[in-house]
Amino acid sequence: MKKNIAVFASGKGSNFEAIAKSARSGTLKVNLALLVCDNPGAPVLAKARKLGVKILLVKRGDFAQKKDFEEAIIRELKNNKVGLVVMAGFMRMLSAQFVRSYKGSIINIHPALLPSFKGAHGIKDAFDYGVKVTGVTVHFVDEEMDHGPIILQKEIRIKESDTLKSLEARIHKLEHILYPQAIKMIAQARVKVSGRKARITGR
Ligand code: GAR
Repeated sequence: MKKNIAVFASGKGSNFEAIAKSARSGTLKVNLALLVCDNPGAPVLAKARKLGVKILLVKRGDFAQKKDFEEAIIRELKNNKVGLVVMAGFMRMLSAQFVRSYKGSIINIHPALLPSFKGAHGIKDAFDYGVKVTGVTVHFVDEEMDHGPIILQKEIRIKESDTLKSLEARIHKLEHILYPQAIKMIAQARVKVSGRKARITGR
């Protein structure tokens, strides 16, 4: 049976689109059951409609407390039998309670080599710092921001000729390859976590 996954996104949704297309073409054998979005103005919503993916739009402002907001999300995850939560530019920290209730089943992508350049501007921060190598990280989510056992990580060398724009384009291109790969490995039960580390087994 295919694993049901939910993608959480707040913005453009290019990773959502890459995952949805891989699932549709069958290269990724999962069922993309739900898009969870917290931003009514996010371009990801139009992408989901076009690709026929069910949407849960939840605005934090509609709930008095973060706990109620998250409970509304968890309810829908349960209704849709979601077994893996895929964070793709969801610009909101999940509470420790949420993380615990989906322990080991929430992953995130970050556009830098963690633990460097955490936060909302990983590409720009690495570029401005002047590092020669940056990259993309896919990791399990724990209670800290952009933190948890690393599943896949791939480097990108910053060229003298790179501008922030050209680097962004290369990072995003890599993300769209790496994220479906990581999800595929999880769906095949090839990712084992022990302690702080995630290990890939098999082929
Ligand atoms: C991606 O680059 C992702 O790595 C980043 O948000 C972007 C979302 O783009 N996430 C973080 O910075 C997490 N700290 P998208 O909406 O086009 O998928």
